[in-house]
Amino acid sequence: MTDNDSMSKPKPVILTCAQPTGLLTLGNYLGAVRNWSEMLENNECYFGIVDMHAITTPIKPSVLRNNVFQCVAQYVACGLDPEKCNQFVQSHVIGHSELAWILTCLTPIGELQRMTQFKDKVSKLGFKTAENESDLKFSHEGARSQSTISAGLLCYPVLMAADILLYNADLVPVGEDQKQHLELCRDLAQRFNHQYSETFKIPEPYLPKTGARIMSLTEPTKKMSKSDENQRSTLFLLDEPDLIKKKISSSVTDSGSEITAIPEKPGISNLLTIHSALSNQSLSDLEDRFAGKGYGALKNEVTEIISESLAPVRSKYKELINQKDYLSKILAEGAQSAQKRAYKILSKVYRKVGFPDRDRF
Ligand code: TYM
Repeated sequence: MTDNDSMSKPKPVILTCAQPTGLLTLGNYLGAVRNWSEMLENNECYFGIVDMHAITTPIKPSVLRNNVFQCVAQYVACGLDPEKCNQFVQSHVIGHSELAWILTCLTPIGELQRMTQFKDKVSKLGFKTAENESDLKFSHEGARSQSTISAGLLCYPVLMAADILLYNADLVPVGEDQKQHLELCRDLAQRFNHQYSETFKIPEPYLPKTGARIMSLTEPTKKMSKSDENQRSTLFLLDEPDLIKKKISSSVTDSGSEITAIPEKPGISNLLTIHSALSNQSLSDLEDRFAGKGYGALKNEVTEIISESLAPVRSKYKELINQKDYLSKILAEGAQSAQKRAYKILSKVYRKVGFPDRDRF
């Protein structure tokens, strides 16, 4: 292969997204965003802020709008250089919901009802359908007056499949909690190709070796989540050192005093995983190093390493968050490139499905 050949070869396409439902967590960082920033050089990257996903559970409009800005500022602060990737808001690109509808028509309801994340959310919110108009109104706090399960929450994984297939992505870097959704996306791509002829690439998931599943600090058998009601459960990317110290020192540990990463010790395993993901030391090296030391020593070191690792992200974020024009420009340019790619793929899909060509009328 000549140099020219390698230069003209298209780069693999990476697509991934996060929901603007709150500030990013340490889980989002270690399981996702940090790894995205290592993929910028050799790939064509699209990073979405999925506001259409964010409305599947109640969120106040002004909060959502503000979260989008916070999200792009955090993306850039984590190293997503806008010169090297496209960052866009999902609702700015026509095609996500259009493709989602087409894929919805290929999805048996049962497959969606079996999704772990849907079942978890339903059990958390309690299954309740809106019985009257007031159930769907927002209170001042941004929550609906009664919790309801929307059809949007059920169809959420199909919208996620559309996000990926709209760009014909090769690789989708995600944390472990998204693996099942990605399986559905691959199935839908195959189903579409089978029914209408070869159209979509079958995207591959990419999970980090360490940090793919960071657990809650207070209930370490549960995933760390932005929306946990207990604020001590979740470490946010922008938490100040004092708060990090408080959260880590009050984190739930396990009985006994041995520092080992085993399933019977989910609290200690979680702290060791966080340490390992940030320090690049293997779990077994850490176990050796902490042999004979108490939980306090581990907590102190984990606190220190988190505070140090996140300090540059915090300070870059503070610099960026008031630069609304700059952030808007990143999103406008990102949406333009994303739309260009999405339009080509959506047009092809429309043709294959049999939608009549608008230009002929
Ligand atoms: P979201 O917004 O919940 O999370 C964004 C990314 O962070 C990862 N993640 C975690 N990783 C490790 N430990 C944790 N505790 C943890 N919590 C979250 C998630 O796996 C994800 O990679 N449905 C998606 C958003 C989405 C998407 C897409 C992702 C919409 N369309 C297309 C990829 C491709 C979600 O809710 O992510």
